[in-house]
Amino acid sequence: MTVLVTGGAGFLGRPLVRRLAELGERVVSFDRSVTGVFGDGVVEVAGDITDGALLERVLREHEVSEVVHGAAIVGVTASVAGLADSVRVNIDGSVALFEALVRTGVRRVVDLSSEETYGHFHADPIGEDDPARPVSPYGITKYAVERLGGYYAEQHGLPYVAVRLCWVYGPGFPRRRLPQPWLEDAAAGLTSSLGQGGDHRIDFTYVDDVVDGIILVLRAEKLEHRAYNLATGHATGIRELAARIAELCPGWQVELGGGPIEMAPGVAAADKGALDISRAKELGYAPRVPLAEGLARTLAALEPTGSDS
Ligand SMILES: NC(=O)c1ccc[n+]([C@@H]2O[C@H](COP(=O)([O-])OP(=O)(O)OC[C@H]3O[C@@H](n4cnc5c(N)ncnc54)[C@H](O)[C@@H]3O)[C@@H](O)[C@H]2O)c1
Repeated sequence: MTVLVTGGAGFLGRPLVRRLAELGERVVSFDRSVTGVFGDGVVEVAGDITDGALLERVLREHEVSEVVHGAAIVGVTASVAGLADSVRVNIDGSVALFEALVRTGVRRVVDLSSEETYGHFHADPIGEDDPARPVSPYGITKYAVERLGGYYAEQHGLPYVAVRLCWVYGPGFPRRRLPQPWLEDAAAGLTSSLGQGGDHRIDFTYVDDVVDGIILVLRAEKLEHRAYNLATGHATGIRELAARIAELCPGWQVELGGGPIEMAPGVAAADKGALDISRAKELGYAPRVPLAEGLARTLAALEPTGSDS
C-alpha cells in the first residue's frame, strides 16, 4: 500500500509525510517542489497538480492505494492577488487528480479543505451541515472542490472525503498570518502592530493535531460523512492570542486595533468562531496541544537552535 500526498512539500504536507513514513507506510509526495528532506520510504515526484497524465503514471507506477490531497494555492491573500491561478491549481488540479483516480482506483482520498468554505460563520461552533456560503475567492475554490468531490463520489464511486481545517499553525508556517508574524517579531525583539483585528475569534489548531486527525480519517474503516471539521472546538480572540504570546515573551508588545482582521488590503476576514469537532471525535480525534504549548513550540523553532518539525 502506498499513500500519495499531494502538496507533500508544504507546511502541512511535510509533517504528514514524515508521520506516515514513521508509521511504516510507503509514501509518495507529489508537489511542484522537491524538498530532499525525507528519508527512506518516501519518494518525491516533482510535478504540476493539473498534469493528469503524470498523476496517472505516478498512481500506477507506485500502486497508490490512498491519497491525501493538499496541493493548492493556499489562503485568502493569494487568491485575491491571483484568482486565475488559484482556480487553475485548486479546481482544475483537483479535477485532474479525481479523473486520474477514477481511472486507477483508490481506497480513499482525503481532501484538505478549509473553514473558509463556511464563509461567515452562522453558528458557533459551526458544524459540517451548517450552511456553506464562502465569501473569499479561496473559500469559493475550496468549496467548489468539495462539491466536485461529491459529484465524483456520486457518479463515479470515488471514495472522497473532505476535512475542514482552520488556521493551522506551527513550525515552518510559510505565510504572514497570525500567530506567525507576531512570533517572528517576538523572537527578533520587535514590537508588532495590527491596525484592526482585535475582535476576531479563530479556532487556531496546532499542526500535529491536524496531522493526527488526517491520519484518523484516512485510516477509518468506514466513514459516515463526506466532511469532517478538524480543529480544536474552541475559538480564541486575537486579544487573547496577544496575551498568550506576551506571557511567553515578556517584553514583546503589540499595537492592536479592534474590528475584524483584514486578509488583504480592504478585504475583511469572514466572521469566524469555533468549529464543532463532534464528528471527528467519534473517529477518536482528540486535539492534544493547547494554544500556549503550540505557541511555545512554534517559537522554539524560530530560535537559532530551533528546528522545523
Ligand atoms: N494551513 C492552514 O491553516 C490550512 C487551513 C485550511 C486548509 N488548508 C489546506 O491544506 C493544504 C495544505 O496547506 P499548507 O498550509 O500546507 O500550504 P502550503 O502552501 O505550505 O502547501 C501547499 C503545497 O502545494 C504545492 N503546490 C502549489 N501549487 C502546486 C501545483 N500547481 N502543483 C503541485 N503542487 C503545488 C506547494 O508547492 C506547497 O508545497 C491546502 O490544500 C490548504 O488549502 C490549510
